[in-house]
Amino acid sequence: MIKFDFTYTLSDNVANGLTYEEINSFEQQITNFLTRFDENKPGFVNAVLTRKWVDSVNELSDFIFTFDNIVVLGIGGSALGNIAIQNALRPFNWNSLSSEERNGYLRVFVVDNVDPDYLSSVLDCINPKTTLFNIISKSGTTAEPMANYLIVRSILETHGLDPKEHLIFTTDPEKGVLRRIGREEGIRMLEIPSDVGGRFSVLTPVGLLSAKAAGLDIEELIIGAREAYERTIKSQLWENPAALLATIHYLHYKKGRNISVMMAYSNKLYYLADWYRQLWAESLGKMYDNEGNRVNVGQTPVKALGAVDQHSQVQLYNEGPDDKIITFLRTEKFDREITIPKLHENEPELAYLGGKKLSTLLNSEQIGTQLALAKHGRPSLTVSFPQIDEYHIGQFFMYYELATAITGELFNINPYDQPGVELGKKITYALMGRAGFEEFNYTQNVQKRVEIE
Ligand code: PA5
Repeated sequence: MIKFDFTYTLSDNVANGLTYEEINSFEQQITNFLTRFDENKPGFVNAVLTRKWVDSVNELSDFIFTFDNIVVLGIGGSALGNIAIQNALRPFNWNSLSSEERNGYLRVFVVDNVDPDYLSSVLDCINPKTTLFNIISKSGTTAEPMANYLIVRSILETHGLDPKEHLIFTTDPEKGVLRRIGREEGIRMLEIPSDVGGRFSVLTPVGLLSAKAAGLDIEELIIGAREAYERTIKSQLWENPAALLATIHYLHYKKGRNISVMMAYSNKLYYLADWYRQLWAESLGKMYDNEGNRVNVGQTPVKALGAVDQHSQVQLYNEGPDDKIITFLRTEKFDREITIPKLHENEPELAYLGGKKLSTLLNSEQIGTQLALAKHGRPSLTVSFPQIDEYHIGQFFMYYELATAITGELFNINPYDQPGVELGKKITYALMGRAGFEEFNYTQNVQKRVEIE
């Protein structure tokens, strides 16, 4: 199991940390919440308690393994889980390995932006004839994946390729234009369960298809998540990682720590912080509480990479405003190991490194950063992976989704909606000339412009 260490969030070990009494005061509320939650499980939990979604992806195996590449087109919750899984579980040079070196599994590209330089450079890397495009959009209408879909479809047609032999639509079971086109044209489709929102959907076909294509064990992802859920539902507060994550983040927020930094001491784990950034921000950043009172709550998630950001961010974390709680991600086992050669043995500044493992240096730096933060009275916690594999990544996703739901309860807000994203979308539609959105062209409303060159 993943190990959580909350030592340096407590007042015993860090100034202005949390007391046991403060944490215990939420025990009853969380127990009651988890009882209701288990009786009326949300979609993201049900998604890992069934074989349905794994089976739906496995059924496409014969089709997907005829290709050399898969390109995922999606944004937000339809992309970030894919990126996190691929970065955690496949080597960084995966897409530059030969097919033999990849054991015939597919190269995986995830295009989440509508940057023409970016999309063009991905398209330059692939041959459309040997490429499967997975268009992921729960709503089936989001401008960015829809624009990229239109572009790749036109490329397929220009190459004389049958779109339905190169496309998969991953979308809502009923709603949206993708579902309609898919039905009309007989395009292969995967369902995103209707009760699972984008940022909670990584362990549905959204994240599972590209994982399968890259040869990952998608069943283990689900098993890890399921065990994390069972542990959360059965455990008392002090044995319950998700409940403690929620309570501790909430209480530190109340003490003015309104920034949550996730700092991965592993390049493989770094993109989990990107996934977390969306989950925490969109779920908990809310204007109104469940009674309709204006509350404007939310803790700003920030991602960082150790040891790199020790030379960029840590000065601020130690000596700047006391407005952060830091989460360290680390692994006890790297896939590969390098021993630092014993050279320059007469130079003390270099000699101490000789013969040590590179991973020992990295993990020592994590401890050093954490202890320095504690000395400065800055709270932090550690999430340790015994190793980075499907099982533990599945656990991580589930623990953080559950922690988000519980934190939503503590904030008394709805963690599953995102009304604040909608207005920007409408203004973009107006700027792009979509009929029915003319009233949102706010560019006309500026009183006085200040522009300089
Ligand atoms: O979490 C969410 O609901 C959002 O971030 C969505 O994932 C994002 O807006 C993309 O939406 P869709 O999958 O409908 O294209």
